[in-house]
Amino acid sequence: MEYIEKIKSLFESDSASKMSKLDLRNKYLGRKGLVSEAFKEIKNIPVDQKKQFGDELNVLKNNLEKVLLQSESSEPNGTKSDLIYPINLNSLNQSSGHLSAVTQTIIKTQEILAKIGFSTIIGPEKEDETHNFDLLNIPKNHPARDVWDTIWVTDKNSDKKLLRTHTSPVQIRYLENHKPPIRIIAPGKVYRYEATDATHETCFHQIEGLVIDNQTSIATFKGVMEYLFANLFGREMQIRLRPSYFPFTEPSFEIDILFKDKWLEIAGAGMVHRQVLKNVGIEDKSYQGFAFGIGVERLVMLISGLDDIRYIHSGDLRFLYQLGKKS
Ligand code: DAH
Repeated sequence: MEYIEKIKSLFESDSASKMSKLDLRNKYLGRKGLVSEAFKEIKNIPVDQKKQFGDELNVLKNNLEKVLLQSESSEPNGTKSDLIYPINLNSLNQSSGHLSAVTQTIIKTQEILAKIGFSTIIGPEKEDETHNFDLLNIPKNHPARDVWDTIWVTDKNSDKKLLRTHTSPVQIRYLENHKPPIRIIAPGKVYRYEATDATHETCFHQIEGLVIDNQTSIATFKGVMEYLFANLFGREMQIRLRPSYFPFTEPSFEIDILFKDKWLEIAGAGMVHRQVLKNVGIEDKSYQGFAFGIGVERLVMLISGLDDIRYIHSGDLRFLYQLGKKS
């Protein structure tokens, strides 16, 4: 193995010197080159190390071939040049990285829902009380505000601001400037002032959805969810709507998904409350709609079989690499 390392470092210094590409090729990959000579050595290697030696030598040969081809093809018009290519062979085996599992899940959801007419919009993470609470039918002193433990921030230019506790305020922002029919999703970060544990983080991601037109029903809503989850998981998934309570929907549900014989909660949802529509100036009773808020980390945990949410944002590359590849 030392022998292979020696060839490597020799090649690195030769390729950084003024040696021509042709000489380089002959010295290493030629019929009597160092690599061919090394292959002849296999017969002298102890039996238990033969395979490893052979494998490593093949990797080296392929890498040298790649590097030489690359530098030869970049030589202008095939003429010899004195260009110097300092080459680090080890860098060839490095991975180029990938998007995080959370981002991949958001992008996949966007693509799947875009096919049935949903556009993606983005809202601010720093919000005011009016959008995060009041217009969503959660007035001051409403006990439901306690559900969303809030991180408050001071803002120089105005009174109180907060880090949005959910993506639902993006519904309001969109409704303020757009007329139905509406079909949007709004992915992004949300913040909660609470202790972290295996299923809670202070910062996590949601994908909000909103549909308003004159022919939506709970059945349409369920159909959209079944379509989404079937495409996300690559097979039909059973879901159920469990009665719940949110001030901005009536009726309200939790969406559970059947996964490995267990019902797991994956989103909050409901038919948009008439008061919310009134708050943004939609008085026409022929319009109604549904909304949902999916927990992205929950989805990632489900898909990857992860049992502690804190790993997702831990920054441990070994872990992130594994997670990103699976989902
Ligand atoms: N915003 C809710 C939460 O964070 C989730 C939710 C429930 C979103 C119902 C919705 C909805 O759009 O209709 O807990």
